[in-house]
Amino acid sequence: MRAVVFLAVVGCASAEPVTYAQVHDEVFVPSCGFSSCHGGANGQGNLVIDGSEEDYAAIVDGVSDVAGGLAFVVPGDPDGSYLVQKCRGDDGIVDDIMPPGVGLEAEPLALVIGWIEAGALRE
Ligand code: HEM
Repeated sequence: MRAVVFLAVVGCASAEPVTYAQVHDEVFVPSCGFSSCHGGANGQGNLVIDGSEEDYAAIVDGVSDVAGGLAFVVPGDPDGSYLVQKCRGDDGIVDDIMPPGVGLEAEPLALVIGWIEAGALRE
């Protein structure tokens, strides 16, 4: 039993923190950044993800007008982040789950949640 607890703690402690570069390049751009989706000049909703330097501010400082000004990302609080709620299809979201119709798969979602939990840092 003690060995199991020890391995769990060591396992957790050694997990590399998720960086913005990782979550941007492995999740946001490939899963959201299509030109007909969030990658176009005006994005969709209030969210533009076009692979540029501006993406960080658009994601972390952006709010949803249609959802009463909810912040897309609340650093340190993935459950309170509207972007996570949209990707899980939580009760109370406005319009569709994201990506539309399917939601975000468990592994990329875990990356997004890990990054937000660690403070949604840029570096
Ligand atoms: C994991 C990838 C994606 C994320 C994180 C994401 C995130 C979001 C968020 C947070 C909103 C709400 C914007 C607001 O209320 O201002 C939204 C809206 C929207 N997104 Fe996405 N999205 C993703 C992928 C996509 C894709 C692939 C498409 C196109 C096929 C798309 C099309 C839309 C549309 C049309 C809206 C406005 C209507 C609605 O809220 O359902 N998104 N998305």
